[in-house]
Amino acid sequence: MTGEHALREALRAVIDPELGDNIVDLGMVPSLRMDPAGNVVVEVALTVAGCPLRAQIERDVRIRLENQPGVTSVEIRTTEMDRRSKEALMARARWKARESAPPTMVPDSARVLAIGSGKGGVGKSSIAVNLAVALARRGLTIGLLDADIWGFSVPRLLGLQGEIEARKGKMVPLERRMGDGRLRVLSMGFLADEERAIMWRGLILNRAVQQFLEDAHWGDLDYLLIDLPPGTGDVQMGLARMLPRTELLIVTTPQLTAQRVAARAADMARRGYLRVAGVIENMSDFTCEHGTTYALFGSGGGERLATDVGVPLVGRIPLHPALAAGGDAGMPVAAGDGELAAQFSALAGRILADIAPLIETSSCSARMLEQLERALPASAASPAGAGAETSQPS
Ligand SMILES: Nc1ncnc2c1ncn2[C@@H]1O[C@H](COP(=O)(O)OP(=O)(O)OP(=O)(O)O)[C@@H](O)[C@H]1O
Ligand SMILES: [Mg+2]
Repeated sequence: MTGEHALREALRAVIDPELGDNIVDLGMVPSLRMDPAGNVVVEVALTVAGCPLRAQIERDVRIRLENQPGVTSVEIRTTEMDRRSKEALMARARWKARESAPPTMVPDSARVLAIGSGKGGVGKSSIAVNLAVALARRGLTIGLLDADIWGFSVPRLLGLQGEIEARKGKMVPLERRMGDGRLRVLSMGFLADEERAIMWRGLILNRAVQQFLEDAHWGDLDYLLIDLPPGTGDVQMGLARMLPRTELLIVTTPQLTAQRVAARAADMARRGYLRVAGVIENMSDFTCEHGTTYALFGSGGGERLATDVGVPLVGRIPLHPALAAGGDAGMPVAAGDGELAAQFSALAGRILADIAPLIETSSCSARMLEQLERALPASAASPAGAGAETSQPS
């Protein structure tokens, strides 16, 4: 007769299609018991109770178990995972995705942050552009990928025009110096004229983001920021597959009713195995020139969502006409020196300090080598002899 161990093994054939792994390894079978008469009771823990795949998974479990010798009946008890199990499951899924992700041209040293929301018009693009500018002004090299293939707005917001050139068959992002740093930008808006672009977009929509990641010379980057289209669609899922180390910053308005949509985005990010790094509240309190503050879109939304998702509230950007005007004029407020620029600088500072710090490229062994070289005489450390003075890292 089949033992419980063998039954468990049989369940390895049941794959959670969304997570791309078998339910046993995913920790979705917390208990399985069989009595001497062959009656099996199995617990199946789903990530969310209302999981659309529930029926399919239950059916697969039943088929696998009923076909095992000695099994006379199968009872499936479906439960919802607790938070810790969910986290463990996501960690495993992320690890697996990373193992099997296709190579991209985004350097391993780049921290990848996608700016998204469940809803349109909450200011994703405005935040992405201004945050990119604020990070670049700190002397960093920032890639900005406009993943809104249909509704690209990054070129306009940055006042950046031009056509992408190809070098050795790969796209070269448009580059702009920004203080001591630089910004490298790719957007559908740079691909030929509007009319041709629309035609082209239809053909390659599904592959556009992939090409921006795989067929582009990004060069060395400290961060890659990705401006996502509204909603929770293909682009988000595609990113999870192509660049699974992407972390999501969710933009929301302070309106409490907007939370459900944003929470859905967070949940879908988790199930698509993107880690949610934090929440940014946009269009927060508006302060008029007399100093009176108005909560035009309500208050507390960012805080509430951050608590619900269990991530930090990274910052709050106020509702301010200058932000919209700067976008319309192609001069992002973060590039100036006003109050809003200071707010974006603070947001960038928080991200650098604790939300998503720079990836430490000098590993222990690299650092050890560096120390060794410094300890050696200049002529030995550098083959050019005098090179020690001229090859200081910039
Ligand atoms: N903090 C703010 N204060 C004032 N206006 C803002 C603010 N944030 C964004 N806006 C304005 O709101 C509008 C929508 O912003 P934006 O295009 O950045 O949103 P989005 O989420 O990217 O939209 P979509 O879903 O269409 O991509 C723009 O006109 C923008 O200038
Ligand atoms: Mg946008």
